[in-house]
Amino acid sequence: MRVTVLYNVDYDPASPAPGLESRQDVSRVADAVASALKAAGHSPTLLGVGDDPLEVLCSLRGASGPDLVFNLCESLRGDARGEAGMSAALALLPVPFTGSDALTLGLALHKDKAKALLRQHGVPTPDWWVLEEGAALQVPGASFPLIVKPVREDGSLGISFDSVVNDLSELSNAVRCVWRLDQPALVESYIAGREVMVSFLGNTPRLVLPLREIEFGPAFAGRPRIVSYLAKWIPSAPECQDSASVACGLPHDTAGRVVEAALRTCEALGCRDYGRVDIRLASDGVPHVIDVNPNCDLHPEAGFARAAAESGLSYQSLVSRIAEVAFDRTRRDPSDPAGRSPGAARAAAPGHRVLSG
Ligand SMILES: Nc1ncnc2c1ncn2[C@@H]1O[C@H](COP(=O)(O)OP(=O)(O)O)[C@@H](O)[C@H]1O
Ligand SMILES: [Mg+2]
Repeated sequence: MRVTVLYNVDYDPASPAPGLESRQDVSRVADAVASALKAAGHSPTLLGVGDDPLEVLCSLRGASGPDLVFNLCESLRGDARGEAGMSAALALLPVPFTGSDALTLGLALHKDKAKALLRQHGVPTPDWWVLEEGAALQVPGASFPLIVKPVREDGSLGISFDSVVNDLSELSNAVRCVWRLDQPALVESYIAGREVMVSFLGNTPRLVLPLREIEFGPAFAGRPRIVSYLAKWIPSAPECQDSASVACGLPHDTAGRVVEAALRTCEALGCRDYGRVDIRLASDGVPHVIDVNPNCDLHPEAGFARAAAESGLSYQSLVSRIAEVAFDRTRRDPSDPAGRSPGAARAAAPGHRVLSG
């Protein structure tokens, strides 16, 4: 298949804006995905989305367009909400693309709305309160500790040890930090237990890859055991060296509850093709969903690829599997114009192996 690997190039290395490391990581992932596709026999082209997303979209149309877009776009012009925007725009083109649709990506980035949906579907998620900028610091019925997060960010942006708060004064400081990111603060009950990641691949059926968890080491002694921005992105930070993703052994029934919560989360939000649901285990064993990552990080060293490796899927196989799953999903959907495009017919011709997800 001719595959365009689409990713965001919307950061200025000289800018002091937060999130530089996570935005730069996207280009490393794009390189890795393109190499894996090439090694698997596909013809990949890298395409960065900068200041002019419309020009990029137009280049994907027509006979010279790709058979599939591998969509790694996580933001547009530095705004995480652009992730959903790009997915919506891609859906207008007669070209299949990988990953979730705009609604799912938008929900995952509006954490309060995703949580409301999860609660409606009976999936446990920590209690929460949303504090709009300038609002009174009221969290009726809450008991400390609490964690304060930006309501619409990703990649642990805006999360530090100070995000976990034990009294009103700490709460006030943490909420003001989030407001500086120009968005409301999401205040959640803090679940102190283990952090387990459930990775999934495919649609029908949706395969669950081996569970992983964060192993919090000595750098977390006396500190909140959370994956802060430093822990996620800054290799020189002690908390980064001490928060590896490792294989997760859980009692059979607990693992069953964790997987069920993750799968119901995917159903509730409509996740497609691949993704990761992050869960914290409360002391009573209840798995609380804290984060949904529909188009999750595909870095070869990240938790998702490691989970795949544990199940015997090399990085190359994983990446081509995602491409095939997305292509096949589109081809089977009669309501999707991309499924009837000449590109789809060409790429599905004999000689191309299309696995069913
Ligand atoms: N309710 C919670 N209880 C305990 N820890 C949490 C909770 N919510 C988030 N965290 C910690 O903060 C990290 C980042 O939060 P998350 O919601 O995943 O943000 P992001 O979408 O930016 O990745 C999580 O990986 C986890 O370690
Ligand atoms: Mg997260």
